Amino acid sequence: MTTLNTLDIPLARDSVEPIYKQLARYFRLQIESGRLLPGDRLPPTRDLARALGIGRISVVNAYAELQEEGHIAAHPGRGTYVIGARPASSGRPAAWSLPGAAAFSMREMTRLARRPGVIAFSGGTPSEEFLPVEALRQAINIVLDRDGASAVDYEETEGYPPLRAHIAEYVRSLGIQCHSDDVLITGGAQQALDLVVQSVLGEGDVLLTSNPTYLGMLDIAHVRRVIPVGVPMDHDGIRLDLLEAAIQERRPGLIYVAPTHHNPTGTVMPIHRRRQLLALAKRYEIPILEDAVYHELGYRGAPPPPLKALDEDRLVLHASGFSKILLPGTRTGYLIASGPLRDRLVRVKQAADVCTPGLNQRAMHVFLASGALAGHLNRVRTALRQRCEAACEAAERYLPPGTQWTPPTGGLYLWVRLPDEGPTAAELYITAIQHGVSYAIGTLFHTDGSGDRYLRLNFSAHPPERIEEGIKRLGAAWQDWRATYDSSVAKRAPIL
Ligand SMILES: Cc1ncc(COP(=O)(O)O)c(C=O)c1O
Repeated sequence: MTTLNTLDIPLARDSVEPIYKQLARYFRLQIESGRLLPGDRLPPTRDLARALGIGRISVVNAYAELQEEGHIAAHPGRGTYVIGARPASSGRPAAWSLPGAAAFSMREMTRLARRPGVIAFSGGTPSEEFLPVEALRQAINIVLDRDGASAVDYEETEGYPPLRAHIAEYVRSLGIQCHSDDVLITGGAQQALDLVVQSVLGEGDVLLTSNPTYLGMLDIAHVRRVIPVGVPMDHDGIRLDLLEAAIQERRPGLIYVAPTHHNPTGTVMPIHRRRQLLALAKRYEIPILEDAVYHELGYRGAPPPPLKALDEDRLVLHASGFSKILLPGTRTGYLIASGPLRDRLVRVKQAADVCTPGLNQRAMHVFLASGALAGHLNRVRTALRQRCEAACEAAERYLPPGTQWTPPTGGLYLWVRLPDEGPTAAELYITAIQHGVSYAIGTLFHTDGSGDRYLRLNFSAHPPERIEEGIKRLGAAWQDWRATYDSSVAKRAPIL
């Protein structure tokens, strides 16, 4: 819990800026810079007014402004708490907001979610029980016995050649025409996305993406100072009519999409829309960055082929990796790219970190070459299907009437819309933590700060009975918030 020294709050009484605005500005900066953290309590209005020697109305107005912006939430009877920094808008971020308000908030949500006893649905990784630790141990031993010091020496920047060859063969099985020279091994898929943004876009360029989109891509955009512009989605993914309008209006340098088991919505883009998207990209000559990290995690049949498999004009850069299906901590991802752009990507990768650790790449290669991936994936998919069913059943039973979600056919997440009556996801967050459950707040995934009724539940993280308990707690938190809020509305006396 951060403590606040009220004497540090600078107020210029002779300024043309009203006192309440100065106070709001001060708190906003504390929150967005991370000096005040989600869950921190703000001083009661009466105490703060007295300490600062100002009228209470100034504090009330400042808090009202911060609440309206989504920075703080008032819990009747319990006080006023910081929720988090508002995600940066689609405009170019102010320098002080780097490395991205969204990243900060996600970090803080994760911190709160680590409290003992909290059932965390907030993370982005599969359950630890899915990670094949024993197989990794054996693979590392094999590599060290076989390769000795070369396993821990610098690796080629492009990646360990046998792993590149294996990945080329694997993506060919998905329909992607690929030579091992086209494979660049990256530090997770995250680095693959970042390398493309750095290689294709310049500062101030526009990146078109779905709204909502992957939070990590918004972080990259903020850090690299490119402008993420969100295009609304429907049940089939990014809407192409609106995408075309956005292309004409914003002249983007890159389109980023995750067509299969989209994070956070779970959407799968059908094949006809994939083809239309490619035709659009061709017409306007815009490269597409395809993020396929959840491609293998379908538990209701195989998804359509990746965009890259349908790409006859070499407009698609295909990013994927082994974090969601195997071992996130080994940081092994890959990018499929060819032509002059590939050389540029390699140079940017070299400047970033020289190479992805060779020991990890070689161990990954031993694991993949053993043929163990298929069996592993089958087990993971079966468990995910059961967990997804448990989440949907519990949502049906425990979440309030009017809550909406679409059962996903793959991936790790349930994307939930809370009813219009009642708290937003951010308002509910602290109460949910108090009830022992956490989730990811929907606004974080949006390019424009919208989506305040949405939350994302990572159901993959727990066995079915824990999922049920967690969602039950979420329903109870909602009821509790609603009851407190309603009774406070009924009882509320004028504040001053
Ligand atoms: C859509 C998406 N892309 C990329 C990544 C990054 O994956 P990696 O851990 O391989 O860097 C994630 C991780 O959450 C993701 O959800």
